[in-house]
Amino acid sequence: MIPIDPALNGAAASDGTPCGNRHPLVPALLAQVLAALIVGGLALLLAPAWFGRPLLLATLQGVLALLIAWRLGAPIWWLPIHACFLPLAVMARGMALPGWVWGGGFVLLLLVFWRTDKSRVPLYLTNRRSRDALQLQLPAAPCRVIDLGCGDGAVLRQLAAARPDCSFVGFEHAPLTWAWAWLRARGRHNLSIRCGDFWAHSLVGYDLVYAFLSPAAMPALGIKARAEMSPRARLVSNSFAIPGRVALEVIDVPDARKTRFYTYDCGRLQ
Ligand SMILES: C[S@@+](CC[C@H](N)C(=O)[O-])C[C@H]1O[C@@H](n2cnc3c(N)ncnc32)[C@H](O)[C@@H]1O
Repeated sequence: MIPIDPALNGAAASDGTPCGNRHPLVPALLAQVLAALIVGGLALLLAPAWFGRPLLLATLQGVLALLIAWRLGAPIWWLPIHACFLPLAVMARGMALPGWVWGGGFVLLLLVFWRTDKSRVPLYLTNRRSRDALQLQLPAAPCRVIDLGCGDGAVLRQLAAARPDCSFVGFEHAPLTWAWAWLRARGRHNLSIRCGDFWAHSLVGYDLVYAFLSPAAMPALGIKARAEMSPRARLVSNSFAIPGRVALEVIDVPDARKTRFYTYDCGRLQ
C-alpha cells in the first residue's frame, strides 16, 4: 500500500490553476471587496449622486470585480459570478422579500451543495445516456461498485436495478442530497447509500469505482486509486482525466454534452 499524502487528499489537491491550493474564497473575497472599495471611493470623490443609483454602482463594482478576479487567475467560471453577484443582490433587495427567505435560501443551498468551497466538487448529475454507457462497463461477473459522491443516487439506482447480482455503495456528504438518495434506495437489497466523506473510505475490495468529480479532485483520486484499488479493478471517471496517467480507454458517450469517460486499469496506475 502506498501512503496517501494528506495534503493531496481531496480538497487540498491542486487543480492546476494559478489559484492552486489557495482556498478559492480568498481571492474571490479579495476581488469583491477591492472592487467595492474602488467604486465606492471613486463615487464618493467624483459623483456622490450615484449613491442614489445603487444598481449602477453595483454594475460598475461587478465589472471591476470580474477584472480583478481575472487578473488574480480565478477559474473562468468564477468570472460571471463576480460580475453578477452585487447587481443581483441589489435587485433582489428591491423585491422586498421577507427576511426568512434569505436565511431559508442559504440553508437550502448549504444542505445541497455543502462544502463545495472546500471539496471543489459541486452537484451536477450523470445523464441517462451516460448512465447507460456506465452500465455497459460493469464486469460480467458479480462485482462491487462504488460511486464517489453519489449525488441523488440515480446512477446507482439504475445500476442496482439492472444488476441484482452486484452490490453498490454510494457516498455523499451533502445532507439533503444524501437524504434523498438514501430514502430512494430503501428496499433495494444490493444498494447502500452512506453519508460521509468518500476520501475517508477505503477503495479496497471494489471492482469498479465511478467518479464524476472535478479537475481539482483528480490528482488526489489518482493517488488514492493507486494506493487502495486492486490491480484488476477499474476506475471510470466521467469527464475528468487523471493528470499524467494514460487512460486504458476513452469512451465517447453519444449525448448532447459530449460526455467522455476515462477508464483506468488500476494495475497500470502503479
Ligand atoms: C458531480 S456530482 C456527481 C453526482 C453523481 N455521482 C452523479 O454522477 O450523478 C458530485 C457529488 O459529490 C459530492 N461530493 C463531493 N465531495 C465529496 C466528498 N468528499 N465526500 C462525499 N461526497 C462528496 C457532491 O456533494 C456531489 O453531490
